[in-house]
Amino acid sequence: MPIHTSPNYWVLEMRHTAYAFGLNKMGLLSHCYWGKCLPFVQDYPAPVEPVHWPSTDGYDHFIPEEYPGYAGVKYIDPVLKVTYPDGVRDVVLEFQDFTTTASPQPTLDLRFKDSFYPLQLTLHYRIHEEYDLIERWATLENLGNDPVLIERAFSAKWTMPHGDDYSLSHLYGRHIDEFHLKREALTPGLKVIESRRIIPSHRASPWFAVDRNASEDHGEVWFGTLAWSGNFKITAEVTEFASTRISIGINDWDFAWRLLPGEPLVTPSAIGGYTSDGFGAASRIFHDYVRDRLLPHGKVLHKVLYNSWEATLFDVNEVSQSKLAAIAAGMGVELFVMDDGWFHNRNLDNAGLGDWFPDKVKFPNGLGGLIKRVNELGMDFGLWIEPEMVNPDSDLYRAHPDWVIHFPTRKRTESRNQLILNMARAEVQNYLIETLDKILSENNIAFIKWDMNRGISEPGWADAPGDPRELWVRYVYGVYHVWSTLRQRHPDVIWQSCASGGGRADFGILKLADQVWVSDNTEATARLSIQEGYSQFLPANTMEAWVTDWGRELVPLEFRFHVSMCGLLGVGGNLLEWNQAERQVGAELIRLYKEIRPVIQFGDQYRLISSQKNGYSAVQYVSKDKNEGVLFAFRVHIPDPFNLPMIRLRGLDPNAIYSVEGFEQPRSGLAWMETGLKVELKNLQSKVMKIHRLSA
Ligand code: GLA
Repeated sequence: MPIHTSPNYWVLEMRHTAYAFGLNKMGLLSHCYWGKCLPFVQDYPAPVEPVHWPSTDGYDHFIPEEYPGYAGVKYIDPVLKVTYPDGVRDVVLEFQDFTTTASPQPTLDLRFKDSFYPLQLTLHYRIHEEYDLIERWATLENLGNDPVLIERAFSAKWTMPHGDDYSLSHLYGRHIDEFHLKREALTPGLKVIESRRIIPSHRASPWFAVDRNASEDHGEVWFGTLAWSGNFKITAEVTEFASTRISIGINDWDFAWRLLPGEPLVTPSAIGGYTSDGFGAASRIFHDYVRDRLLPHGKVLHKVLYNSWEATLFDVNEVSQSKLAAIAAGMGVELFVMDDGWFHNRNLDNAGLGDWFPDKVKFPNGLGGLIKRVNELGMDFGLWIEPEMVNPDSDLYRAHPDWVIHFPTRKRTESRNQLILNMARAEVQNYLIETLDKILSENNIAFIKWDMNRGISEPGWADAPGDPRELWVRYVYGVYHVWSTLRQRHPDVIWQSCASGGGRADFGILKLADQVWVSDNTEATARLSIQEGYSQFLPANTMEAWVTDWGRELVPLEFRFHVSMCGLLGVGGNLLEWNQAERQVGAELIRLYKEIRPVIQFGDQYRLISSQKNGYSAVQYVSKDKNEGVLFAFRVHIPDPFNLPMIRLRGLDPNAIYSVEGFEQPRSGLAWMETGLKVELKNLQSKVMKIHRLSA
């Protein structure tokens, strides 16, 4: 097994990288190494031993603990904070023993106990060897009789090699403007990236990358994420003694957990990796991992879908949808998705949420007629739902006003005229499971878009069995429970995660959803940047992208298609208003997409020229066997005269000969990568070019 153990030192070895830690003389689990594999186990550095420290400094500046609890003279940002029943707020962990298991992946578990109180902590390290990834989580158990209050329980602390000259990359944004990449120097102090909205949110993504002078293709990058679809927190700390560390876990803001005997608290997984090949390699590692290890249908080629939202808004009925469906099918669309507006009393966003049965006026005979029509046209059928929500104007709310998250003495703040169901409550979970199971059982539904359209307010839970602040976590458990139960009952359905666009895009939800609605912004030039940010940690085969009418006066249809073809192509424009020529162009590009989609959905992605930084950008996909590739180039707006940069391809076999569509002369992979090629484009022009290996 690639885990080297001794009574007090452990090395996790993966394909190219290794991670080492051990107990020092104080008995503290000290981080020792995270980088390239070293030839011999003895090569890995020993744990840091205590030295004399001035009375004003805690020892954790010098001893980088793997999982520091708040205790003693530790002034660094801890990952564990506990209050014992007698009021003691100091957690002293002593190592007990360790075990290893070989399957499903090699895993090392280290057990600790508080030196006085009956609290047990297990640190788990699972390695994903071929991806050079380490998965870490922690389990807290109460071995006594009285509840222990957990005030912070992160999943991991990651320590960088000693130094204070690192940069942090992270993603931030807003509704209809998600996934901006920000790279900034880390300086002494604490930088916090977090969500307080009960979903990861548009505002920040649970992802980080730390580097020292890395670029897209070169340099050391330590990167990580959290498999969690709720409030998260990332803290990046540079201590006054030049130690740089990242903590990641469930946000402890407004959090508390009454740990009861017999009910362990298991943190979500933090997944971290190291590469010396730059940000692009870090992204590709995560892309592979998500596709191979997380997605329920990671090996399934996604269909070209049509979504009715921007075309018909709430005005859906059998006639309007059938008309759109007929045109969509004629263009080669394979899956027709009816968005919001189909259920009881849903004519605007002010009523209906919660009543998940077809509206009698719009669908007097249920959804069967429309689905039959869609199926006859040769397409699968998909449906929009927003299970976690309720409008006050709904039968559900009238029957169960207490099911929503609220404080009894406060006004229930509505957002988009809706309130949030308390998904932590079993009766809410059961209602949703039964209602949604009924729709899925009675209809031939192949696809569900699961939406979530507001942030939380008044986070109360009046009759909570534990601490009401457990809501932040138990809500997410509730979502996972409902979703996974429905998945088990309907295993072939493809699910999409949407939260007003990309508000819930994380490694947790991608164990349930196969794809993400990345943004409500479907304007193609904005979308280019949003998609590039998304690709930092999530793969193209999860990135649903519709071609819509947004910006059609300015941006050519072909350009809009090319942007969407960089992920999972969908169409969302009002096809009734597309003329024959436009439908023809659409059909042609859908045909092309079907040809190249295996490379885009399953291949390696290379961000050749950044669209977030440049008006002229390029992105390339290469099949795993390096035989096929696709190159996209886009020019948004650059004043003339402008000398467009060369595009240097990536990921080809240097010794093989490749042709690139539009270029007469085949060349070696090395030549395409080193000297590049020039794609002349005018403003708002784009091009897609197939790359093909001609010889070995
Ligand atoms: C959200 C989604 C949209 C659409 C609407 C429907 O805004 O992000 O794609 O489904 O809800 O109300």
